Amino acid sequence: MNASSTALPGGTWSLGELTVTRFGYGAMQLAGPGVMGPPADRDGALAVLREAAGLGITHIDTSGAYGPRVTNELIREALHPYPEALHVVTKVGARRDEQGGWPPARRPEDLRGAVHENLETLGLDRLDLVNLRLGNALGPQPGSLAEAFETLVALQEQGLIRHLGVSNATAEQVAEAWAIAPIVCVQNMYNLAHRHDDELIDELAGQGVAYVPFFPLGGFSPLQSSALSAVASRLGTTSMSVALAWLLQRSPNILLIPGTSSVAHLAENVAGAGIRLSGDDLAELDGIASR
Ligand SMILES: NC(=O)c1ccc[n+]([C@@H]2O[C@H](COP(=O)([O-])OP(=O)(O)OC[C@H]3O[C@@H](n4cnc5c(N)ncnc54)[C@H](OP(=O)(O)O)[C@@H]3O)[C@@H](O)[C@H]2O)c1
Repeated sequence: MNASSTALPGGTWSLGELTVTRFGYGAMQLAGPGVMGPPADRDGALAVLREAAGLGITHIDTSGAYGPRVTNELIREALHPYPEALHVVTKVGARRDEQGGWPPARRPEDLRGAVHENLETLGLDRLDLVNLRLGNALGPQPGSLAEAFETLVALQEQGLIRHLGVSNATAEQVAEAWAIAPIVCVQNMYNLAHRHDDELIDELAGQGVAYVPFFPLGGFSPLQSSALSAVASRLGTTSMSVALAWLLQRSPNILLIPGTSSVAHLAENVAGAGIRLSGDDLAELDGIASR
């Protein structure tokens, strides 16, 4: 399933019949402050997207809720018509309110509207992969996803979506989705310090399903730990590089979507994620975890 036919660290992974580089790019940080409105440096944002594609990254993660619409429109402006190998993954299930919050929007009409808006803003006839975002800003919440997920399955049957995934989901919701229709990925919060999904990752690896950690670098509160700094300085690299390398080594089904609004950070992350961590490094890093 995975071949190293790319110069990017981690090689590739198959999302159904779509091959993506395990090193992807998360576009959320390209919108304005609080993920609302346009970026201060619009040309800089377009440059980051073009650099990502230029480096050979074939997996870009976005959502119509980023901006809202802003990030999708930047992706379209920078990269449309998309190279055949490039896959833009989006998510639906939350909207933005006037305070910049992320209230759920998972009624069938919300989801149908969001899929059509993503098609329009990204300039596509069919979305390669749509994640149903569940839970809320506090994290996954229990409850059936059936009505919402079945709405997306109907849109998939109409030919508007190629593949489905779930995000911010409990293990029970992942299983419930699977019982309705195949999923190719789960996108949940996970990083060196937040490892609640360890068991789920291993289960999904056994099923050939990708696990895509959001906030791989800690998100709005960058990862900080003395163990992480110690390993990074021993290896002569940055904490961010170690955090990404650790994810790539953690399991072959993990796909990276680190966010950045900086071309320099993007290049640094790509270069750093290929670092090989030893058994001693991994043991030291293991101590950071909360499970
Ligand atoms: N499914 C969901 O509910 C959900 C929720 C949140 C996010 N996401 C997805 O996950 C992706 C990743 O999350 P994220 O971007 O919020 O968090 P992240 O990847 O954990 O961290 C991004 C932050 O790290 C900084 N950074 C990146 N590389 C750096 C470097 N080399 N040196 C110093 N700082 C660096 C960025 O600042 P600079 O801009 O200055 O580089 C940015 O502030 C998002 O883009 C989005 O697509 C999904």
